[in-house]
Amino acid sequence: MNSLPVAVVTGGARGIGEAAVRKFAETGHAVAVLDVNRELGETLVRELQKQGKVAQFHSCDVADAAAVNALADVVGKTLGPASVLVTSAALIPNTESIMDMDLDAHDRMWRVNYHGTVHACRSFGKQMVDAGRGGAIVTLGSINSALPMPLPAYNPGKAAIARLTQLLAAELGRHHIRVNSVGPTYVMTPQLQARIDAGQRDLVKMMQTHALDTLPTPADIAEAMAFLCSPAARTITGILLPVDSGWIASATYMTYAGGVPWERSAPVA
Ligand SMILES: NC(=O)c1ccc[n+]([C@@H]2O[C@H](COP(=O)([O-])OP(=O)(O)OC[C@H]3O[C@@H](n4cnc5c(N)ncnc54)[C@H](O)[C@@H]3O)[C@@H](O)[C@H]2O)c1
Repeated sequence: MNSLPVAVVTGGARGIGEAAVRKFAETGHAVAVLDVNRELGETLVRELQKQGKVAQFHSCDVADAAAVNALADVVGKTLGPASVLVTSAALIPNTESIMDMDLDAHDRMWRVNYHGTVHACRSFGKQMVDAGRGGAIVTLGSINSALPMPLPAYNPGKAAIARLTQLLAAELGRHHIRVNSVGPTYVMTPQLQARIDAGQRDLVKMMQTHALDTLPTPADIAEAMAFLCSPAARTITGILLPVDSGWIASATYMTYAGGVPWERSAPVA
């Protein structure tokens, strides 16, 4: 049996989840990547194994509770019980209105984003309880957890995940399992960079609602996760930690009708 602590990351094949996988592998964890994207997941795991890390890929749709539960068993038997869980798997939508949205797509987004988080927290949370060694769970919130945005399934789903995180923290605290959420602003993923390059997103407009002049990278989000899962955060549970370049603090301030009393410079990135 593997002797390293085990970190499980849903949606770990790409983006923020991938950065979490890399960070936890770097900090001495055996990592299990659960994702629907087999090609990217297996490529990542092969790369980590070549570096001498312990890593597994499992094809898994987090919307399927039975599949997540079965995989928790496989991970438990082959690597050992999880001591860290990151729930990054999600569908990312485009702007739409409630009146015009497609209800099947709406339901699917809830099943993946919210129910998928519940499924992973239940299956791996039970495993942590049974192992009796405590643990740390990080769910993926967003600035969408804090304020309305025109993303009718995604936005309330992220608010629900913030509340779920509190409920889990209250329920699992007696087992020394801490449950927190990270709340990123727009993260400079390769996908966002490509949209900016293609003129589909306006970086100057995006930066107008932030206090800082730079957006977090996936690695910045992984740093916050690593902190939340470390002994340094041993008394922190049930929180939503914004990693948002000051978006929540300043979005309304920066868009105040009277303007801000200084000249604004161009964003760095
Ligand atoms: N990128 C951002 O700007 C941003 C901002 C705030 C919050 N978030 C949140 O961070 C998380 C990751 O976002 P990202 O930008 O890395 O997205 P991404 O699309 O790059 O990665 C998501 C991963 O989840 C996987 N996935 C999708 N559906 C799945 C399913 N049903 N079962 C298992 N895996 C599935 C995908 O294959 C992919 O590997 C999400 O929860 C997202 O809501 C992202």
